[in-house]
Amino acid sequence: MKNIVLLGFMGSGKSCVGQLLAERLGRNFIDIDAQVEQAIGMSIADYFAQFGEAAFRERESAAVEVVAAQSGAVISTGGGVVLRQQNIDRLKTNGILFCLSACETTIVERTAGDRLRPLLNRPDRLQEIRRLLAERQPLYRQADHWIETDGRTAVEVAAAILRILDGEAYVHGNDPGQSGQSQL
Ligand code: S3P
Repeated sequence: MKNIVLLGFMGSGKSCVGQLLAERLGRNFIDIDAQVEQAIGMSIADYFAQFGEAAFRERESAAVEVVAAQSGAVISTGGGVVLRQQNIDRLKTNGILFCLSACETTIVERTAGDRLRPLLNRPDRLQEIRRLLAERQPLYRQADHWIETDGRTAVEVAAAILRILDGEAYVHGNDPGQSGQSQL
């Protein structure tokens, strides 16, 4: 059974939507950032500070390799996973890829006050978001499906994905319940 893989920029709602989808579908939820943190034994922010982004990307690719080999899981990725084509190719091998998109304003709002994302922990945050979005947008376009998340709740985004999966003959079960009812 194919994995359901969520791509998208920081703050696009991948983890939240991924958990809802997994609940709804009765599938395993795997967060690649959490897998990396488990492997390195520290937070991603601390790892960036000590070893830098290049070392983090190595760890991220190693986690992708393991996770992409799973079957039937809902997988949430880190926003920069698309920077390595090998990661995308691996995730596509047994996965259907959804990109959660959000405009710059939404991302700024959703990540405001967040100190856990090293790439955004800088004074020129807005410029950096713009730069990274411009760089990554064409890479995210490799997803099989594109889902707009601006002004939508996690439940609404999960429902949009479920409709697509239904159309592709995926089967799902329980109601997602009350969590994820506020806007992402
Ligand atoms: C990153 C996004 C983060 C995390 C790391 C780098 C990025 O994940 O992997 O801080 O390069 O966009 P989220 O997208 O889950 O915040």
